[in-house]
Amino acid sequence: MKIDLVLRHEDFTPDHGKGRTAVVVDVLRATTSIVTALMNGSGPILPVATAGEAFELREKQRWLLAGERDGIMIEGFDFGNSPLEFTRERVEGRSLVFCTSNGTKSVLKASVADEVVAASFLNAASVVEHLKRSGRDAIILCAGTLGKPSLEDTVCGGMIVHRLNRRPSAAASEAKETYLEYRDNILACLRESFHGKHLINIGFEKDLEYAARTDITKVVPVLDEEGRLVLKPGPAG
Ligand code: MLT
Repeated sequence: MKIDLVLRHEDFTPDHGKGRTAVVVDVLRATTSIVTALMNGSGPILPVATAGEAFELREKQRWLLAGERDGIMIEGFDFGNSPLEFTRERVEGRSLVFCTSNGTKSVLKASVADEVVAASFLNAASVVEHLKRSGRDAIILCAGTLGKPSLEDTVCGGMIVHRLNRRPSAAASEAKETYLEYRDNILACLRESFHGKHLINIGFEKDLEYAARTDITKVVPVLDEEGRLVLKPGPAG
């Protein structure tokens, strides 16, 4: 089993997905929020590229809308993208549309792969178990931030590469080295990151403290045939 990695979604091409599982990572905050919503009993999560698509879906199907631009909730939406908003009270049994700057674009790009899973520090161990069980080659798609590699996604991707301990590409090995630098202080990595500093500046420091929590859930979101992120069938999703 081989494991590869790209540092930003702009570098992911359809060839990267052929015969592989694509592991989408957007620690701050899209995949952290998606894992949290499903962990708290939400229904399917549909990633869309534009706010317009999201509003149309609400008209037709009473989906709840979640998303941000520059970290701030899109006007008229029901949620921003803070994982702390997706409580069981607010999302249990409800279907969600997600529209974010980099994370949902990454999921949409990854959809050409044989399988797509969403990863964060919250569910890293369960994603590694899932990949080991499937045995299929995999590629980690780090979302990045506004066209640049992001430290937090690289470190999370590197953690998965390190734990998987399979045949890493050069890019995957480099990410693993970056992870080893921060393995004892993930929160410091988030605080030092470009987007982490921005989120602190606009009042979302608590999101970083939460997103740095590791292996708190067995939830593994997978993309279904309708392009929706749902719980992986089987024990603990
Ligand atoms: C993104 O998709 O770019 C991020 O999740 C943005 C954010 O939530 O701050």
